[in-house]
Amino acid sequence: MLNYETLKKILFNFEPETAHHFAELALKALPNIPFVNDYMVKRNFINDKKLTQELFGQTFANPVGLGAGFDKNATMIKAMPALGFGYTEIGTMTPRPQAGNPKPRMFRHIEERTIQNAMGFNNEGAYKVVKNLKKVYPFSIPVGANVGKNKTTPQEHTLSDYKMLINKFKDISDYLVINISSPNTPNLRDLQNEEFITELFTMAKELTPKPILLKIAPDMEAKTAIDLCKTAVKSGAAGIIATNTTIDYSLVENPKDIGGLSGAVLADKSYELFKEIAKELYGKTVLISVGGIADAKEAYRRLKAGASLVQCFSAIVFEGPSMVKKINEGLLELMEKDGYSHITEVIGADLKTTNKE
Ligand SMILES: Cc1cc2nc3c(=O)[nH]c(=O)nc-3n(C[C@H](O)[C@H](O)[C@H](O)COP(=O)(O)O)c2cc1C
Repeated sequence: MLNYETLKKILFNFEPETAHHFAELALKALPNIPFVNDYMVKRNFINDKKLTQELFGQTFANPVGLGAGFDKNATMIKAMPALGFGYTEIGTMTPRPQAGNPKPRMFRHIEERTIQNAMGFNNEGAYKVVKNLKKVYPFSIPVGANVGKNKTTPQEHTLSDYKMLINKFKDISDYLVINISSPNTPNLRDLQNEEFITELFTMAKELTPKPILLKIAPDMEAKTAIDLCKTAVKSGAAGIIATNTTIDYSLVENPKDIGGLSGAVLADKSYELFKEIAKELYGKTVLISVGGIADAKEAYRRLKAGASLVQCFSAIVFEGPSMVKKINEGLLELMEKDGYSHITEVIGADLKTTNKE
């Protein structure tokens, strides 16, 4: 099979969004070529009971999921086990179809193993994405639905967008995610305030018992983030996903002046905020860590800090289709070395040590 370093050289000759489009075409086609798909599933999908957890009423065979934004329209779900992912998150979907920001809106910082994107929730809209989901239901791995408001919806009508989205996706996803942390929809991040979060989750709870999580941005003080997350959990959120991309452009040498950064340069920032949130909320809700995870060591660091699950997006562009398998195999090795017999013993291990001291 074509080596990924060679394939990457070819793909990186194209605009990032074009390369993503090729990847989507390939991943849409993959399940229709059973012998290749089955070979890849066998090779990449780690299904070891030491890594398996029951969460949100679903079985997660391994803790590594695909972060939102890669599969915006739910067209690649069937191919995700072939890439090794234990679960996937589709979206962000908006109520109405949306073109997103003008192109170019996705950039690579190759040396820094970082992506910068200003996509702006380009997606086919809730109605079409539900249709796509129905085509592949029941799913072979857990699927989260990440939702956000339309750009043209006035701020005062935001709640009705989220209400529509929750109603649309509640019966055709395993968990939902409220995205108010993208830097690419004007004023979206302003919704990261306690009043709105209380109103939103109070409303959500009345609509469905389905687990609904909050995804937050990395660009705030730890205290502010902790207060927001606590408010969300108190109002009914089933978990926190930290973090989205950062608007701290000082992290790369030649930033564009739009969008958010993800990948290697986000790792420490995302970890530091996650760790502070976990100190307060570990054991009280489900915590998912995302931002700059590219190897087992980093994934292990997030699990030990309190993450039940992790997600990756940017690193898959640089590392290729065997990355998730390597992460999961590496996790098993690290667990063996540290004497852990099940992933649940790793999750929050740093906090347990601190508590014992
Ligand atoms: C091109 C691109 C598009 C993204 N779109 C979304 C999105 O629609 N919704 C969302 O919640 N996060 C989105 N993200 C953020 C990722 O889900 C993730 O939180 C972030 O990239 C950090 O993880 P990473 O460093 O592993 O990429 C996007 C990221 C990238 C690179």
